Amino acid sequence: MRILFIGDIFGRPGRTIVKDRLAGLVRERDIDLIVANGENSAAGFGITPALAEELFELNIDVITTGNHIWDKREIVDYFHMVEGNGHGPARRVLRPANYPSDMPGSGLYEGMKGKVPYAVINLQGRVFMASNDDPFRTADQLLQTIKAKVILVDMHAEATSEKISLGWYLDGRVTAVVGTHTHVPTADERVLPKGTAYITDVGMSGPYDGVIGVKKELVVGKFLNGMPVRFEPATGDVRMCAVIIDCDENNGKATKSERLMLS
Ligand SMILES: [Fe+2]
Ligand SMILES: [Fe+2]
Repeated sequence: MRILFIGDIFGRPGRTIVKDRLAGLVRERDIDLIVANGENSAAGFGITPALAEELFELNIDVITTGNHIWDKREIVDYFHMVEGNGHGPARRVLRPANYPSDMPGSGLYEGMKGKVPYAVINLQGRVFMASNDDPFRTADQLLQTIKAKVILVDMHAEATSEKISLGWYLDGRVTAVVGTHTHVPTADERVLPKGTAYITDVGMSGPYDGVIGVKKELVVGKFLNGMPVRFEPATGDVRMCAVIIDCDENNGKATKSERLMLS
């Protein structure tokens, strides 16, 4: 099985490049399963139900998120629509699993791709981020219930050390641990010794002529004067960052991992 994971889709520029490039990539590279982080789809801040469904129309199977999940309040109602529709689009948008358990939404999706069962887990780090439950032990708990062999984990976190530690912690227990959130791709993609594909950060799919997606003048200004400012998405130098992970669908072990940056 070949999995494509697309890094944080940022605003209209990110959505547009994914729309333009995805179908060709799927065809040329024989992709089976597509997962994307969509936490910045709505002009950088959150995701709306309409934007989630726009991404699902591109044949993305599951959307993961992170700390921006609640920026657009409509997503809360969307999560409440899940009841009774265990595989509908609303169910296939995840929020980090290690949020308080009474929050709307879920951090785990289990589905089928053809005849292959798979699972996607969304976690959020705790270093330099809001204090959530422990992502390591949350992963342990979820893995006890998951039957699928093919398991992808989106570790949405700031600190490289926390992400690398989770990669080692889950090595051999999941197919892939992919990092998101920093919007800066790292060049450390590899398959760990027990068969887990790992990358510290996949990188943003969005405009690179700004500061992690935002107009550079606004962010540079904020560093200079510390005044509050309304962030707006940058527009230029749009790139799509992703990883392709090959795995043996019978045991879930990753065999190969490749980093992509398309412009
Ligand atoms: Fe992000
Ligand atoms: Fe984030």
